[in-house]
Amino acid sequence: MKNWLTLCLFIPYLAFGQMDQGSKMQWFQDAKLGIFIHWGLYSVNGISESWAFYNGYISHEDYLKQIEGFSAENYDPEYWAELIKKSGAQYSVITSKHHEGFALWDTQFGNFDAVNAAAGKDVLSPFVKALQEQNIKVGLYYSLPDWSYSDYTHHTKTKQRYKISEDPARWKKFQTYMFGQMGELRDQFQPDLWWFDGDWEHKAEEWRVDHIKSFLSEKNPNVIFNSRLNGQGDYATPEIGVPVLRPAAKYWELCMTMNDSWGFQYNDRNYKSPQQIIDIFVDCISKGGNLLLDIGPKGDGSIPEEQVQLLQELGNWTRKHQEAVYGTRAGIPYDHYYGPTALSADSTMLYVYVRDIPKDGKVLLKGIKNRINRAYVVGDATILDQKTYCKVYWNAYPGLTYLELPEQALDPYYTVIAVVLDGPINLYREQTGAIESN
Ligand code: GLC
Repeated sequence: MKNWLTLCLFIPYLAFGQMDQGSKMQWFQDAKLGIFIHWGLYSVNGISESWAFYNGYISHEDYLKQIEGFSAENYDPEYWAELIKKSGAQYSVITSKHHEGFALWDTQFGNFDAVNAAAGKDVLSPFVKALQEQNIKVGLYYSLPDWSYSDYTHHTKTKQRYKISEDPARWKKFQTYMFGQMGELRDQFQPDLWWFDGDWEHKAEEWRVDHIKSFLSEKNPNVIFNSRLNGQGDYATPEIGVPVLRPAAKYWELCMTMNDSWGFQYNDRNYKSPQQIIDIFVDCISKGGNLLLDIGPKGDGSIPEEQVQLLQELGNWTRKHQEAVYGTRAGIPYDHYYGPTALSADSTMLYVYVRDIPKDGKVLLKGIKNRINRAYVVGDATILDQKTYCKVYWNAYPGLTYLELPEQALDPYYTVIAVVLDGPINLYREQTGAIESN
């Protein structure tokens, strides 16, 4: 009886718990595109963010001198937000503090911040405000490690100040500082998402991951956490490696650089082309995830021209193809189409992404049991002719359907075909035996 009662009490709790995570993740799952921003001291000399001194390429002292160059004199937060909006992104994540510990806002915990840099002011608040005005969700990147802070354990690759087991009181001091800063960010900015980084340096119990999550959810139970909290977040965070296999996690986001650096670097001209960025983006969409594409503004707050252009070009494509981007779900197995696809949330619409145009202009779909009511080009409205072969009336085998894509409807990057089905997608997943057409 007691067990039965426990079960009755427990089942609604479970269902609610799941529903809750689902609904809190809804905007994130639908968003598909976010813009990551790495902006900090490192943007001044154009050296690798925090790692430049950690790895010993420059002394800590010289690294810190960049504070005199962090002027933000050409910083235009409204323009940043506008550009992000134009790219088609639904959210943005900015480095409020990277591993070196420099804070973009006016922190009361120490004075290593933008107010004490050449900028002389809090540069985070106006950007957050500009994002909110554009209706773009706000994500704050916050580095758990703080390599410059005197009570943090690690300083550089070769210098560790102390071990927690040797001096727990000192670690407590660091925790007071860390929670103090997180509390400021929580209260001043009310972010929609927290993007943690650097969890590898300590165990979850040492960071107090449970407490971090409850502390930051206090005023917003729907706030989302990435998984760099020793794996205890809401979504998986692959980095640079474009997933080859569909990630196992229900929610995930690939973070990716435009060139090979997160922060601005003078010498890094190895930019991906718009086609390559869109390749990666389409790959994420078709596998049911998000792309968090990074930009690295300079120390004066200007955004490098190459990055502006990439955002604009991406924006042109996302605007035209919005119905095949936002709110979509992972597509169908490659057995049915040799390329990326996505489905509408109710799976009655199949989006087929065509990158490489077949010589005869025909796009082949296989094993779709539904009737295809119509196929049209997204953002262009051309209705396509279709013809099915190898289909016999008495057998469930759906045959091969060719959609004819006329040349004038082609997009320079990806042409997307919307396939309107007669109901939720129904795939033929059986072995084909002899289908006699006698
Ligand atoms: C890595 C790096 C860091 C960068 C981050 C972005 O964890 O430590 O420099 O900010 O990836 O995903």
